[in-house]
Amino acid sequence: MVYQIQMSKKSAFDALPRFITCYFGCELDVVRKYAHGNVLDVGAGIGRALSYLDPDKVDSYHAVEPNTHFASEIAADGIPCTVTPRTFEEAAAGFGDRQFDTALVLWNTLSMWEDPADLLVPLSRVAKSVLFTVVAKGNLPARLAYYRAARIPHRMADASTENIVSEQWQTNRAYSWRDLDTIISPHLAVVEQGCLTSYSHFAIAEAK
Ligand SMILES: C[S@@+](CC[C@H](N)C(=O)[O-])C[C@H]1O[C@@H](n2cnc3c(N)ncnc32)[C@H](O)[C@@H]1O
Repeated sequence: MVYQIQMSKKSAFDALPRFITCYFGCELDVVRKYAHGNVLDVGAGIGRALSYLDPDKVDSYHAVEPNTHFASEIAADGIPCTVTPRTFEEAAAGFGDRQFDTALVLWNTLSMWEDPADLLVPLSRVAKSVLFTVVAKGNLPARLAYYRAARIPHRMADASTENIVSEQWQTNRAYSWRDLDTIISPHLAVVEQGCLTSYSHFAIAEAK
């Protein structure tokens, strides 16, 4: 299910706790280093990744974002930019094989799919390589404290995956490195994993 929740850039990002803004800071370095060629941003939100991209390395940026309020906020300065306001599953049908050099699946967007194969099967066809950044397991108390402090109605959906569900941030589970490998490896070859912060890590995977 895709929520069409309306949040301006300000309301979405102003109140974030430090453990998330630190995640963004470290994510920025990895995205800038890694993204090149034709870039696909899956579940792009308001296009936060755009400001991370190096215009000397990136030829084009294609955002896929089904929340039309978010999609309408995406605007590029200097890099050719396309926005498809649909789910990735719908958009992918129109993409060619290996059309994108780099796909970005940032800020726990992986967690949006109840069955990750619905993302990973089409993604492994259209992208040569993919950068995932996710929330690391073991941070549940801090995460729950944030939802309570920000008064975001939520429910703890599953303790084993540390999955918290809310209308604002949708389904939001956490991952160990092993979880990531188990989920991604049937579809793409995981070539690197690393820490961003104690709260988050990344994986880079390539088409097989
Ligand atoms: C946690 S947000 C991350 C936004 C952005 N990637 C960022 O890092 O700021 C996840 C995004 O995925 C989008 N999303 C949910 N289901 C999706 C789907 N089936 N296809 C593409 N995007 C989806 C949501 O609307 C939301 O904007």
